[in-house]
Amino acid sequence: MKLFKEINAFRKFLKGKRQNGVQNIGFVPTMGALHSGHISLINTSKQNNQLTICSIFVNPTQFNNTDDLAKYPRTIENDIKLLIENNCDVLFYPEVSEMYVDDEQTNVEDYGFIVETLEGRFRPGHFNGVITIVKKLFDVVEPTNAYFGQKDYQQCAVVNQLIIKNNLSVKLNICSTLREVDGLAMSSRNARLTIEEREAAAIIFQTLFQIKKSFNTYSIDELTTKSITQLHSSPLIKVEYLEIANPTTLKPLVDKDERTKAVALIAAWCGNVRLIDNLLLFD
Ligand code: PAF
Repeated sequence: MKLFKEINAFRKFLKGKRQNGVQNIGFVPTMGALHSGHISLINTSKQNNQLTICSIFVNPTQFNNTDDLAKYPRTIENDIKLLIENNCDVLFYPEVSEMYVDDEQTNVEDYGFIVETLEGRFRPGHFNGVITIVKKLFDVVEPTNAYFGQKDYQQCAVVNQLIIKNNLSVKLNICSTLREVDGLAMSSRNARLTIEEREAAAIIFQTLFQIKKSFNTYSIDELTTKSITQLHSSPLIKVEYLEIANPTTLKPLVDKDERTKAVALIAAWCGNVRLIDNLLLFD
């Protein structure tokens, strides 16, 4: 596996590859602490592209909380080992100073409701940071395909808007969430859960599953109230939001019939760790 820390050397390498006939480049942007979910994105990219690139960059501008940034797991040696074992072709692993010049502003153009709702409401500025860094990474890599996990449902919707707004030629591939045996969505943050919190965290997926099962039985209001009560039955869980929304616009649903397409999204603290998950409520 080739490793690049500098944009210029990396761009030169990519130019050479393109000159040598590489036409399909698959890109998996990450913040490291890689797990099987990331590796499945790498594998999907490997199957569909001539060259697969992973980036590891803990992007400071998308953290609205300095403590969260400081505590974000960093496991670079293990990440490199995993990427080599899984035949990733290239790792781009830049320093902050390589991606951000001085105290550069990250104000992006207006993305409207899609960045203001849900995560945007509880993590002000988060999507400003995500849009800024994903755009910079796309500019450097110029991928044919980019792979994102559905666990970050709203992020996928925002990246989709970024691609549309900037007329980028990259194709966004949204891959299913990988789950632990008890349903917990795989996430780098899970590594920070204590044994008790890890056990309690399974209730997030159980609740999503329950919402899907009873979607046609209850009103949106009833579903929301019942689900929050179910989550709070664990003393370790504190819900930040639970919303049943339109899967494209992310506008909260107020009414529905059995044909309504919807997605349920949850953010909850499990002890000191903030977890998010979602489930499409249609097949
Ligand atoms: O999902 C993530 O890991 C990050 O938000 C991303 C897309 C790598 C941007 O920093």
